[in-house]
Amino acid sequence: MKKPDILFIGAGRMAEAIFSGLKQSEHIGTVTISNRSDAERLAHLKRTYHVETAKWQDVVADHNVIVLAMPPSSHPAVMKELANFVTNQLVITVAAGIGPTVLEEAMPGIPVAWIMPNTAADVNESMSIYACGQHMQEADRVILQMILDAIGESEELSEEQIHELTAVTGSAPAFVYQFAEALEQTAKLYGLSTEQATKLVVQMMYGSVAMLKDGRKAGDLRDQVTTPGGATAAGLEVLQEGNFSEILHEAVIAVNRKAKEQANN
Ligand SMILES: NC(=O)c1ccc[n+]([C@@H]2O[C@H](COP(=O)([O-])OP(=O)(O)OC[C@H]3O[C@@H](n4cnc5c(N)ncnc54)[C@H](OP(=O)(O)O)[C@@H]3O)[C@@H](O)[C@H]2O)c1
Repeated sequence: MKKPDILFIGAGRMAEAIFSGLKQSEHIGTVTISNRSDAERLAHLKRTYHVETAKWQDVVADHNVIVLAMPPSSHPAVMKELANFVTNQLVITVAAGIGPTVLEEAMPGIPVAWIMPNTAADVNESMSIYACGQHMQEADRVILQMILDAIGESEELSEEQIHELTAVTGSAPAFVYQFAEALEQTAKLYGLSTEQATKLVVQMMYGSVAMLKDGRKAGDLRDQVTTPGGATAAGLEVLQEGNFSEILHEAVIAVNRKAKEQANN
């Protein structure tokens, strides 16, 4: 297979996370980036990653894959213009709320995909969820997977599931950071410096996640730490009395409710 040439429309944080990972692959051809106005940023990215820069309208025909990495609000106008250029290129968006249905409506017959990464794409540890349009071929899927692999792990879901589960992969990192911050503040009550409190909490969380990544079950690991009637059990009881699990469930529902409201406005 010819190495795919990839064009990014939008050259912000998410585009950088993706192409910085992709540039390490030997299976990728030219990477070209573009934006509307920030020439300084383009020049910086060109120097740093040895990518090409261009006005996207001038080079779109020379690329096999187009990644839309600009805000959702920019999509309607760009998709409308892009529809005049694309023939059979693969078009991928990373924008919240812009699923394959929206892309196919704007560009009928074109292979399209929707990726929802999360902020950990910055360190190649995204948990990305994605959905494919109906015109995707096997070769398109291979390229899509390369892009997904450049930023971390991925799971294919239905478009509807992505709308519902972005709360878990995209928003829940904020819940985790809230948890970390609260525990750090608690640790500081016992006389630790900020650096010490951060070190304790971050490594505790990192080690806990490493055990989970090792394939062990959350419930089993929790039970291993918790002697019935012991000190950890007393702490868990407080969390249960505060409806810890239900609160998390409600937080996910609240994210989805708000996302729906925003989509309908
Ligand atoms: N960052 C994340 O963790 C994350 C996670 C999931 C999804 N996403 C999605 O990724 C997309 C990009 O997010 P980001 O964090 O990378 O945003 P960002 O850092 O603000 O970058 C947006 C980029 O899009 C360009 N742009 C805006 N309108 C454009 C247009 N009409 N034509 C061409 N370029 C345009 C901007 O440059 P100019 O203003 O110079 O044009 C900028 O380079 C968004 O849709 C967001 O929902 C981001």
